[in-house]
Amino acid sequence: MEAKKMAVIRQTEIADRVFELVLGGEDVLKMQPGQFLMIKPNRQDLLLRRPISIAAYDKERSECTLIYRVEGDGTRQMAQLEAGDSADVLGPLGNGFSVKEDLAGKQVLLVGGGIGVPPLYQLGKELHALGAAVTFVNGFSAKKDIFYEVEMAKFGEVHISTVDGTYGTQGFVTDITNQFDWSPDAVFSCGPRAMLQAVQTSFQEAEVYLSLEERMACGIGACYACVCKGNEAGKQFKVCQDGPVFNANEVKL
Ligand code: FES
Repeated sequence: MEAKKMAVIRQTEIADRVFELVLGGEDVLKMQPGQFLMIKPNRQDLLLRRPISIAAYDKERSECTLIYRVEGDGTRQMAQLEAGDSADVLGPLGNGFSVKEDLAGKQVLLVGGGIGVPPLYQLGKELHALGAAVTFVNGFSAKKDIFYEVEMAKFGEVHISTVDGTYGTQGFVTDITNQFDWSPDAVFSCGPRAMLQAVQTSFQEAEVYLSLEERMACGIGACYACVCKGNEAGKQFKVCQDGPVFNANEVKL
């Protein structure tokens, strides 16, 4: 796959160090929820591309939205992109969430943690369009980190936890889901590993899909930086190529 230039349509800071970047280009037509792009920072000395998950896309307008948090030099540089610039992009990459038709009319639970929340937005939108009953449960550290609450509420019920209790339920996503008096038919989750483990343990009766946020270097299966263990003895997966979304039974967290 070749890298391409995508046009920067706009960029906005939507929470503390969290940016929403809208890009335009024909490859939007190929996108699925849960896939990611590898973006090359616009600075000669920053060689590695950064994996950024796709939060939303509009295929009619050929636009996609990425949401990321500034963590280091690469993402700090990306945060300076503005309308009229272009971004050097590889992707869409990886196997995303599949929106199965048999989820129409079913109860689906989408559990996100921090910067793992974005890919669940497009997924929730598509599941809602299919006729599934969507519930989002998003966990953040604090109120200043929260984004997309209003946007997600268009497609389902939204619950929020914060570790410091500055908004929503104090604690973790499981402090919310443990109170539910219903059981989801399917669960989709993306976020830190401890959260994914808690989700995997809490919903053993449901179909559970997890998006792993591994460290990535190449993003295309060439470097083995992102390997994770499978549940079968000796089985390994490359998160960038075999995932990032896996059936929870397949992987050992
Ligand atoms: Fe290089 Fe996955 S990031 S193999």
